[in-house]
Amino acid sequence: MRHFAVLKEYFAKYRYRILLGILALVIVNGLQLLLPRIVKYVVDGIINSRMTDVSLLRWAFIILIIAIFMALFRFFWRYFVLGTSHRIREHLRNRFFAHLQSLSMTYFNNTKTGELMALATNDILAVRRAVGIGIVIIVDTVFLTIGALIMMFRINSVLTFLALIPLPILSLTTFFMGRALHVRFRNVQDAFAKLTDKVQENLSGIRVVKAFVQESFEVNDFRTHNQHFLKENMRLVKIWGAFFPLLMMLGGISTAIVLLWGGRQVIINFLTLGDFVAFTMYLSILTWPMMGIGWVVNIFQQGAASMARINTVLNATPEIANLPNAVSITKSLKGDISFSNVFFKYSEEYPYVLKSLNLHISAKEQVAIVGRTGEGKSTLVSLIPRIFEPERGVVHIDCINIRDYRLEDLRKRIGFVPQDTFLFSLSLRENIAFGNIDIPMECIIKAAKIAQIYDEIMELQDGFETVVGERGISLSGGQRQRIAIARAIILNPDILILDDALSSVDTETEEKIVKNLMPMIKERTTIIITHRISSIKQIRRIIVIGDNTLKEDGNHDELISLGGIYKNLYEKQMLEDKLKRSL
Ligand SMILES: Nc1ncnc2c1ncn2[C@@H]1O[C@H](COP(=O)(O)OP(=O)(O)O)[C@@H](O)[C@H]1O
Ligand SMILES: [Mg+2]
Repeated sequence: MRHFAVLKEYFAKYRYRILLGILALVIVNGLQLLLPRIVKYVVDGIINSRMTDVSLLRWAFIILIIAIFMALFRFFWRYFVLGTSHRIREHLRNRFFAHLQSLSMTYFNNTKTGELMALATNDILAVRRAVGIGIVIIVDTVFLTIGALIMMFRINSVLTFLALIPLPILSLTTFFMGRALHVRFRNVQDAFAKLTDKVQENLSGIRVVKAFVQESFEVNDFRTHNQHFLKENMRLVKIWGAFFPLLMMLGGISTAIVLLWGGRQVIINFLTLGDFVAFTMYLSILTWPMMGIGWVVNIFQQGAASMARINTVLNATPEIANLPNAVSITKSLKGDISFSNVFFKYSEEYPYVLKSLNLHISAKEQVAIVGRTGEGKSTLVSLIPRIFEPERGVVHIDCINIRDYRLEDLRKRIGFVPQDTFLFSLSLRENIAFGNIDIPMECIIKAAKIAQIYDEIMELQDGFETVVGERGISLSGGQRQRIAIARAIILNPDILILDDALSSVDTETEEKIVKNLMPMIKERTTIIITHRISSIKQIRRIIVIGDNTLKEDGNHDELISLGGIYKNLYEKQMLEDKLKRSL
């Protein structure tokens, strides 16, 4: 039960709805218990020839009214109790999603997306069932069991004892079969998740599949997954198929006992026929809560297990968060960045990506970072907006440790174009403004012009309103990168970071974009990571990252005369360019 503590506030919020639902449920139960009494009265009346056509009609009418009321109150409890469980699920899901948003990158690095998706769907569903159906079954079980038993004892206690013999078996059967059902049901869900993953991955990578002529391999692989799904479903069907027939059979044993013993009591006039009929009706009423007990135990166990899993996520604390008394950035940053003896690794078991790194970038300075792939350039710049945090050492901006700034303020002052751009399934305008809905159109247009994407957007039929496909499939890599640049510069950041943001555009366009960006770059601290040295001629200071640290630092001529990594990279690229031109 303690697992459900998270839901307390929602239960409190909806307490009236829940109480109304329970009240409606109790009324339905009461009416249900009343019906056999009426039937008894009528049957005995018929036997004793007390019933006239008129009184028969009257009783039929009363039963009709009761049936109508039962239908009405059944609707009410369903609406209030099940409806509330849906509302609680909505809250829980919102909370879950919001919490995920607050967690740090490290968390997502170490957690599979599929697992989080399963929590957000299957596990939250299990919690909803425990909350909704759980309440119903508990109320039903308590009221119907007590009510039906009292009525049955009033009719005949020996008969009641006899009829009850198979019922605990009923509860045990539902409990054990329910558990097996649950396990198999989970297997079916897992198999389905694998199947959808398969399809999703295939469709996202359909170009590669076609290019490598792997269609038949993919079809076979899909078949295997689908077959597995079928197998799990068949395992479920076997138990599911036996479940209700078995329960009915057990109920049948009770009926047989009642018929045998009770029938004799009627024959020897110990029991009226009306009592006998009423008794069998109570027995069938009792069957449901007896199954319910076994069922509810399962539902609560599953719900509690799911809730526990959800709680592990809800209890995960963001590793990177605001310190108490975090400094707000009211206007802007100057943009003086310094790394002092910074060490970083992605996790304990991985080697250091950055080691004893020292680097100072003055306010409004422009630097280019070059180096071989995998040397840690992207890692280095991701420390600035605190996407990751150094293991040792400190990063200062304007002489304040970046950990002391309010995280949101810090990130808002930094325009970051990551290496792998991501566009959302929104219009181009929304992708550039990205959440800042009050940005005027002129600013969006200006940003698009600086990023050299404006003309291409205007050539599209819907212009800025063109909706980007999933992962921006309908745009080329270079176009996506330029949209990402527009997104980063639109908020007029104090620090601009372009992480190989122009890798997918040709050299000429890259030079044009950098030239266009120059006026805006000059006004702020700018870090441009690139693998193409030719395009950063305008940038005076070049930093070379190698062997997990800062290796070379200076302008082009200085680095060339140093004869190190930079010279090597430069000469190779010159050679490549020459080869390309001569082709
Ligand atoms: N999210 C990550 N988890 C674990 N290792 C990573 C992660 N991102 C990068 N790395 C590793 O860190 C090293 C530096 O990567 P990166 O900073 O992307 O290099 P660069 O940008 O210079 O190409 C590489 O060896 C890479 O494999
Ligand atoms: Mg990189």
